[in-house]
Amino acid sequence: MSQTDRALTTALAQAAATAGRAPSVHNTQPWRWRVLPDGLELRVVRDRQLTATDPEGRLLVLSCGAALHHARVALAAEGWRAVVERIPHADDPDLLARFTGLTQVGANPEAMHLVQCMRIRHTDRRPVSDEPIADAALDEITEAATADGVRLQLLDRGQVLQLATAASQADTVESEDPQLRAELAYWTGRAGDVGLPAAVLPESPPQTTVPGRDFGRPGTLPVGSGHDQAAGYALLYGDEDEPVDWLRAGEALSAGWLTATRLGVSVVPLSGVVEVPGTRAALRGMLAGVGYPYLVLRMGLADPTHAGPPHTPRLGVDQVVDTSAVRGT
Ligand SMILES: Cc1cc2nc3c(=O)[nH]c(=O)nc-3n(C[C@H](O)[C@H](O)[C@H](O)COP(=O)(O)O)c2cc1C
Repeated sequence: MSQTDRALTTALAQAAATAGRAPSVHNTQPWRWRVLPDGLELRVVRDRQLTATDPEGRLLVLSCGAALHHARVALAAEGWRAVVERIPHADDPDLLARFTGLTQVGANPEAMHLVQCMRIRHTDRRPVSDEPIADAALDEITEAATADGVRLQLLDRGQVLQLATAASQADTVESEDPQLRAELAYWTGRAGDVGLPAAVLPESPPQTTVPGRDFGRPGTLPVGSGHDQAAGYALLYGDEDEPVDWLRAGEALSAGWLTATRLGVSVVPLSGVVEVPGTRAALRGMLAGVGYPYLVLRMGLADPTHAGPPHTPRLGVDQVVDTSAVRGT
């Protein structure tokens, strides 16, 4: 193997490992990467699909899309350009993406900065501070999350109140369904390397305009007495509602969230309203039927006076990155 080939496979393996930092629904990390001598493949791991909460796999694929964007950025930071094919084979729908045609083009400083943001990005479910987000920052985040049929729409006051109603309806539906409750219980309060540990879950329900997810058990994260009056809410949506659109939505989520992190803006995805078909239809109504909702985002400036939650654990690299095809070559 030549030095360039070795540099390529090292960069591919590192990009796949870095993508492990991506956010995923309930921290399921439903992805597996395969490093090839001249490319990289991303597969969805169906074993970690939330089959009751997310039977169609919308949030499953969206989570993989966030990992895909992380890998794209990590490769660009190392100076590689790739052609990315999304769901390249109709008869192999679990193969979500393939990187081919890799060429060395020189490290991209913007991508290098975003890789640093991957290391600090996390979900902070406490109420945000009273300081509003600057309009310029909101514009930058919205622009970053806009790509290939996906858009981020900031909600006005009236829409936020509609969203609050929908979110509390979704919560009621989900808390009354024993299968959904059991699935949530499986993924929360865990001590392992998937799922949500108690340390990242609020110790009591935070005061928010739009209710956050009720995780069905108190965590140990202190939330304080603040109210997220200054939070902004936005809807990530797009033109179509097929797996390739969910994949692109995940990429847009990652792009918007990493940009938010760079600007000091905290993001919390709210997916309960999308999981319940009735409230998903209500969100679609808010878009006047011209788009399909993928995810709701709460944005705000984190309370600077208290330390936030710790980082949520991740699977070991050997569990998510398969390098057997390049080992020993
Ligand atoms: C598609 C998707 C849906 C999510 N839904 C919620 C949600 O409804 N409520 C919530 O508090 N966090 C939600 N999250 C955040 C995840 O729980 C979080 O990304 C994961 O636990 C990893 O933690 P980290 O973001 O701190 O790295 C969601 C994330 C993704 C990607």
